[in-house]
Amino acid sequence: MIKEVTAQAPGRINIIGEHTDYNLGFVLPAAINKFTTVTLRPSEDPNLCTITALDLGETATFDLRDPKPMEPGWVNYIMGVAAELQKSGAQFPGFTASFSGTIPIGGGMSSSAALECSVAVGLNTLFDLQLPMDTMMYAAQMAEHNFVGTKCGIMDMFASMHGKTKQAMLLDCRSMEYEYFPIDLGDYQLLLLNTNVSHSLAGSAYNERRAACEKGAAIVQQKFPEVTSLRDVTLSMLEACKDVLDPLVAQRCRYVVAENDRVLAATRALSTGDHVQLGKLLYETHAGLQHEYEVSCPELDFLVAFTQQRPQVLGARMMGGGFGGCTLNIVHKAAVTELIDEASAAYREAFGRDLTPYEVDIAEGAKVLSVS
Ligand code: GLA
Repeated sequence: MIKEVTAQAPGRINIIGEHTDYNLGFVLPAAINKFTTVTLRPSEDPNLCTITALDLGETATFDLRDPKPMEPGWVNYIMGVAAELQKSGAQFPGFTASFSGTIPIGGGMSSSAALECSVAVGLNTLFDLQLPMDTMMYAAQMAEHNFVGTKCGIMDMFASMHGKTKQAMLLDCRSMEYEYFPIDLGDYQLLLLNTNVSHSLAGSAYNERRAACEKGAAIVQQKFPEVTSLRDVTLSMLEACKDVLDPLVAQRCRYVVAENDRVLAATRALSTGDHVQLGKLLYETHAGLQHEYEVSCPELDFLVAFTQQRPQVLGARMMGGGFGGCTLNIVHKAAVTELIDEASAAYREAFGRDLTPYEVDIAEGAKVLSVS
C-alpha cells in the first residue's frame, strides 16, 4: 500500500498558435523548467480531502462525494481534477495534498494546468489507477471548464503532460496528433518578460472569444457544410459570408484562420533554421492579438513595441490567453542582459512597476518524483 507520492508538472511556453487550440487548430507549445510539485497521501477519512497551498499558507477541505466549486478559488483546481477523474470511472478515497510551485501565477505560463496535471499524475500513482495519460489530460481540462469556469482548450495540459527536453510540440488540436520539434535558435534564445499584470477581464473575455469563434464557425457552416470548426475555415470563406457575419465575429475569425497558417509557417522556419522569419511571424501574431482578437493590454503592447526598434530582437509577442502575463521574445544571446536592463527601465518609467525577466529552458512533462 502506497503511503505517499510526490509528483511534479511543468508550466509551458507557446512559441506560436494562440487561441487556436479551442478552434481545433495548431499550436506549438513546450514545457518549461518551472514546476508545481504536490505531495499526496490517503486521508484517514474515506471522503474528506484536505489540501494545503504551501506558498499561500492556506488549507481547505472538501468532501469527495459532493464536489462543487468553492472558495478559496485555488481548491477548485484540485477538487476539479479529482471529481473529473471520478466521472471518467476512476474510484479512489479521500486524500491529503500539499503543493507549491515556481511558476508565476497569472504569468501566462499555465501554473493552473501544471497544478492540475501534477495532481492527476500523483493520484494515479497513489491509488494505482492505471489511467492513460489522455484521461488525466482531459480530466485536467474539464476541471477548468466545470470547476474553475474557463472554457480553455487542450494546449496547456497537453504541454504539461507531453513535454520533452529541448523540444516544442506541434499539436493538431483536431486529430490530437503531434510531432516534436527541436528548438535550436543558434545565436538567439527565448526570453520571457513578465508584465506582472493580470487584468481581471481575462476569464470572462476568454469565454467570450471562444463563443464568438463558435458562432462564426456555425454561420460559415450554413454556406459551407463541410465546416465543423474554424480550423476548416479559410479567409475566402469568411469573405463569402461577410454579409451574414457580425463584423466583430468576422474579425475574431480572421485572426484565428491566419494564426493557424502562421503556426505551420513557423514550423517550416524552424526546420530550415530561418529565425528571422520565425521572428516576423511572432510580431504578426502579436499584431493580430492586439488589433483583431483584442486580448492584449497596454503593458504587453509596450514591451512588444519596445523590442521592435531593436535589431537584436527577431520577434516578440504576448503569450497565452492575454490581458497580462508575459511577452515571448527571440533575442540575440549577446544582447539579453542589455535588453533586460533597457526594457526594465523603460517599463518602470511608463507603468511605475517592475517587469520580471525569465530565461526558461525547455523541460520534461509531468512525472512522479517519489513513492513511499
Ligand atoms: C490559455 C488557455 C489555452 C489557450 C491559450 C491561448 O492558456 O488555457 O487553452 O487557449 O490561453 O492560446
